[in-house]
Amino acid sequence: MSLVHRDKKHLWHPLTQHKTASPPLGIVKAEGALLFDEEGRSYIDGIASWYTCMFGHGNKKIMDAMTKQMKELDFTMFSGFTHRPAVELSEKLLEILPENQSKIFFNDNGSTAVEAAIKMALQYYFNKGEKRDTLIAFEDGFHGDTFGAMSASGLSSYNGPFEDFLLKVERIPVPTDDTIESVISQLGGILKNNACAAFVFEPLVQGAAGMKFHSAEGLNALIGCCHQHEVLCIADEIMTGFGKTGRHFACDYLTQKPDIFCLSKALTAGMFPLSITSTTEAVFNAFLSNQVTKGFFHAHTYSAHPIGCAAAIAAIDLLTSEEIGQGIRRIASSHKMFQKRIETHQKIKEVRTIGVILALDLDVEMDRYGSLRDELYQLFLDRGVILRPLGNTVYVLPPYVIQEQELSFIYNSIEEVLEQI
Ligand SMILES: Cc1ncc(COP(=O)(O)O)c(C=O)c1O
Repeated sequence: MSLVHRDKKHLWHPLTQHKTASPPLGIVKAEGALLFDEEGRSYIDGIASWYTCMFGHGNKKIMDAMTKQMKELDFTMFSGFTHRPAVELSEKLLEILPENQSKIFFNDNGSTAVEAAIKMALQYYFNKGEKRDTLIAFEDGFHGDTFGAMSASGLSSYNGPFEDFLLKVERIPVPTDDTIESVISQLGGILKNNACAAFVFEPLVQGAAGMKFHSAEGLNALIGCCHQHEVLCIADEIMTGFGKTGRHFACDYLTQKPDIFCLSKALTAGMFPLSITSTTEAVFNAFLSNQVTKGFFHAHTYSAHPIGCAAAIAAIDLLTSEEIGQGIRRIASSHKMFQKRIETHQKIKEVRTIGVILALDLDVEMDRYGSLRDELYQLFLDRGVILRPLGNTVYVLPPYVIQEQELSFIYNSIEEVLEQI
């Protein structure tokens, strides 16, 4: 019996309405930018499996590092214990994160990284004897599916049944060149009328919202305002981190530096679930006390898993290599050429690109999870390309090691599909 048949019996998939969804693809193998299904068909992974496998599936350097680590030390708790992979990873991360970052806290996925960041911010003020109960977040942001992360997220398609149970959040629109002044004034009102603890945001690119971009200048101004009111700024770089925008972090385009960073996904290049929440010395110091409970009493069993840390160390070595730097620049310039080629197409409303992210808004009305969107997804699959449209936005975010002909095949498929819808 095929995997797909056996799957149907017992499995419950994420983000899936099982009554209407098409069966999943049974994947049996992956290599470089390719995935292979159980019927022997290959697919180009045009979104690097939710932007994780940025150095290619089955990357040998990362696999070798993990295998070596597994033989040396498989796992130990991280409360009361430490180990070389965690220490080395913290040193490597702090070499590439902005200079104000100083301490690394480990979690095991993107949502829990954001959850820890929000709890850190709330307890930071609690420890100082101040009650600050409000978060600030962008409309249409996405930060994950645990309750704190869901609260910060503004995409109602995910949060509907849980709205009554969420934290207090005030929302602002993302700033554009024309709206910076009005967004700043809106933020000013929120800061004046609420006890705000933290501003949580996806810097420069809102992924789940449909790869929507906003300006570094606008974000700098908002972070500046928050800092004037001593509100901690939390950069969720779970999607943007590790080279996606053409720099190591989207925040490298900013002059104002956030206080807390959340990183996951490409951190381990898709090889292991791991995430980190990094912060400044000042935030860390607010948890130092003779009172035990002023410490951060938050833990996940698999925190700082040695095998995940080993994968992340190897991934950072790749990220900072000349070879991967070249790959990122090559993809960025191919995206720009394709943008020129396609932007005047009659079925295209807007094309935007930054680093290896390319997003096309189709001039076709579509529900986020509607049947037309599903048809579009299927048309790409039929051509052997995995792209996962977000409503009417088709985006490409390939592994840095994608071959030029594979990338061209994706572009050509987009043009062909535009003729079919
Ligand atoms: C910006 C951002 N934050 C948080 C998350 C949640 O990460 P995870 O799915 O690992 O919980 C995601 C996942 O797509 C994301 O893109």
